[in-house]
Amino acid sequence: MEYALDRFAREAHEAIAGTGQVPDELIELVVPKPNIPADLAFPAFRAAKELGVAAPQLAQRIASSVRRAAGTLVGDVTAIGPFVNVGVDTVLLADTVLGEIERLGERYGSDEQGNGQTTVIDYSSPNVAKRMHAGHIRTTIIGQSLVNILRFLGYPVIGDNHLGDWGKQFGVILAAVQRYGEPQGEGEELLAGFEEIYTRYNSAMKDDPALDEEARAWSLRLEQGDPQARAIWQRAVDLTLRVNQRMYDRLGVAIDHTYGESFYEPMLAGVIEEALAKGVAYRDEGGAVVVDELEPNLPTFLLQRSDGGTLYMTRDVATIKFRIATFRPARIIYVLGIPQELHLRQLFALCRALGYVEGVDLVHVKFGTIFDQDGQPLSTRRGNMVYLESLLNEAHARARAVVEQASPELPDDEKDAIAEAVGVGAVIYNDLYQDPRRDIRLDWNRMLALEGNSAPYIQYMHARCRSIIRKAADEGYTADGGEASFLTHPSETAMIRQLAKLPVAVREAGERYAPFVVAEWCYDMARALSGFYRDCSVLKAETPALRAARLRLVAATARALRNGLALLGIRAPERM
Ligand code: ARG
Repeated sequence: MEYALDRFAREAHEAIAGTGQVPDELIELVVPKPNIPADLAFPAFRAAKELGVAAPQLAQRIASSVRRAAGTLVGDVTAIGPFVNVGVDTVLLADTVLGEIERLGERYGSDEQGNGQTTVIDYSSPNVAKRMHAGHIRTTIIGQSLVNILRFLGYPVIGDNHLGDWGKQFGVILAAVQRYGEPQGEGEELLAGFEEIYTRYNSAMKDDPALDEEARAWSLRLEQGDPQARAIWQRAVDLTLRVNQRMYDRLGVAIDHTYGESFYEPMLAGVIEEALAKGVAYRDEGGAVVVDELEPNLPTFLLQRSDGGTLYMTRDVATIKFRIATFRPARIIYVLGIPQELHLRQLFALCRALGYVEGVDLVHVKFGTIFDQDGQPLSTRRGNMVYLESLLNEAHARARAVVEQASPELPDDEKDAIAEAVGVGAVIYNDLYQDPRRDIRLDWNRMLALEGNSAPYIQYMHARCRSIIRKAADEGYTADGGEASFLTHPSETAMIRQLAKLPVAVREAGERYAPFVVAEWCYDMARALSGFYRDCSVLKAETPALRAARLRLVAATARALRNGLALLGIRAPERM
């Protein structure tokens, strides 16, 4: 899709080529540093060298012979040293950008580059009968945002929740349920109950080989489809899914599939056989299936234990094979913490060696750790572990207090709805506003600040737009007939420029698997908006024509901010 800034870049290129001073293939435009008063620049060094002239001289020649064709976005063209600086025609830009936003609405910023290249995203992927902890919080939030962004860019995206619902530890859960009874309750409490009997059984098992044997027997019974084992397992899976669904709903997370590790059980023997047949793995004296020396510096690993049991790895190999056969993806993305980097390197290497992934990109989007308010790593042992549901509840409660202060006059249920949007938004934004590889800190004061780089600040600036539009409507004013040509104040043109950048930010976020690029856009947009509020009055604008133009600008800004926040998974309340 050609948005205003794409068109501007094309027209600037054409204008420079049109001077006849420099051949087309030597023209390369760059976005200048913020302190340069230009929207695009052509550094003439390389061209000048090729042409055997001095760069400042070439820049000068180009600038003086450029002709501004009517109707293009190219504004002033000037030479400064070896650079040709190109400014945008701000009036035409305003008209074009506002038109795009009004025409595309909630699709503003979207694109068509996906072009049928299916992307599978493996994210969230919590474990059954356990609470979602810090790592799951991050993969869930980052993963959903990538789904939103890549879909917006036109990629067919398939999300898959690779639920940890299989393996040896499940035998322990089954045996523990037999011995101690099934935990009751709801939500995280219920899952905590499962964790508790799991831990209890595990430590009892250490001193009692009979218990160990029992757990092993249960896991075998489960793998062989024993109805009783299956029934308990199914209940635990259903409970976990039900608990997690409540959090997904609150976070705006919707994952297309939840096959889970158990789904691959029938395919595992085939995968192991294939690896052996292709000579990628071998069976050692003990009977284990081993993969080694696939690539330099890649540690040896197992595909099957000597007791015949399969592993997390085995199921991941089968998963890749299944996904490729079923979805025909161009790439598979794993949103997974840094600690599983080696696991994925081994997995990817093995799948390449097996010839499964011809023409398929395998991507690991890694993320850092969550630290508590005091910068301490979260751990169960320290007692500062954070689980998703309690985190969202705490965020809600804290946001409720903020709303209570800011808008005491609102009805209670609206306060609650706002507190949910703001609290959950703050948690999401805290995860997304910087590079995912960086660690994050749960600093509530910063997360919930109405000033600064936080979701509430951006939501608040959006709500102010909506409030102005409501007040205007009450007084009988609309944006009708608002001419973009009135929007000439520097604070207004700064806003227009920022609005124009949303499509660019979305593309970059998709290319770099970096939702923070969209988050940064939102923050910069909110700041441009606050500059505008400081300098320009909408309702008390000097003329009705100017007021209408500003109302148009405010409505477009609210729309674009809403789109940006939606890509992050953050709601934009009408008032705050
Ligand atoms: N259940 C795993 C965990 O909690 C994450 C699974 C990630 N996905 C995958 N295909 N391995 O650590």
